[in-house]
Amino acid sequence: MNDRPTDLTLDLERQVSTRYGAAITLATPANETVETLLGHRSVRAFLSDALPEGTLETLITAASSAASSSNMQLWSVLSVDDPAIRASMAAYAGNQRHIEVAPLFLVWLADLSRAQRIGEAEGREMAALPYTETLITAVIDSALAAQNAVVAAESLGLGTVYIGALRNRPEEVAAALGLPPGVMAVFGLCVGHPDPAVATAIKPRLPQSVILHHDRYNTAHEEAGIAAYDTALKSFQASQALAPAGWLRAVASRLGAVSGLSGRDRLRDALAALGFPLR
Ligand SMILES: Cc1cc2nc3c(=O)[nH]c(=O)nc-3n(C[C@H](O)[C@H](O)[C@H](O)COP(=O)(O)O)c2cc1C
Repeated sequence: MNDRPTDLTLDLERQVSTRYGAAITLATPANETVETLLGHRSVRAFLSDALPEGTLETLITAASSAASSSNMQLWSVLSVDDPAIRASMAAYAGNQRHIEVAPLFLVWLADLSRAQRIGEAEGREMAALPYTETLITAVIDSALAAQNAVVAAESLGLGTVYIGALRNRPEEVAAALGLPPGVMAVFGLCVGHPDPAVATAIKPRLPQSVILHHDRYNTAHEEAGIAAYDTALKSFQASQALAPAGWLRAVASRLGAVSGLSGRDRLRDALAALGFPLR
């Protein structure tokens, strides 16, 4: 057998090194699924070309294939095609233009309403629905489903970006999409062919010494790892012609003031209004 690394192994090593902003040798065997995962980058500039026929169904089948807590499947997804509704979604999400441009815009829903309807049909009160645990279960289910769709889309050469900013205006989003009580828009997702004129790149992440713990939580390597990451992210930002603000400052400014929540500080009240009492 030839023990020369395959092209895929070399590609993966390049991707791992870019992901961590440091040269790293990959010990795992190469495969195309891992390559797709490691190559992820958000895409915010799309061609207006329609997606190949059947793409939506493929992405949703991938989403349905994700694990689901107790198989309750407490999620739904809504494809927004109407340009007027797209425009309102873009406005609610802080005027993110890619929401209007992307050929596909999906809104992933934590959905307790279906279970409520089942309860009504079965003559059950559904006493567990109002609990925080049940909403968390629904949010986890919808996130896992969405990420499966993202990976499927990227494996097909498409680009995606999540739109968490839909949670800035939860009640307006719910009204525009006709969501019944007990349904929350967790985030949106733009999908389309990446515009080749707008370069994208793999964004570095925290080193494994910071995020991977063994047996007991351990911060021994945290400070050095975060400092190294801050430097790596600054050089990534400089390479993308962005202000090299680094990561520490981003965390401090995003989480250091309630204003960093962009209106989501009132999410609990909004959820109560949307039919999630959260006991
Ligand atoms: C739940 C979630 C919500 C996000 N919301 C937005 C958003 O509203 N707008 C946006 O441009 N990017 C959004 N992003 C993309 C992140 O900014 C992006 O994933 C992060 O900066 C890392 O970059 P990368 O995906 O290119 O690796 C979101 C990502 C996640 C996971």
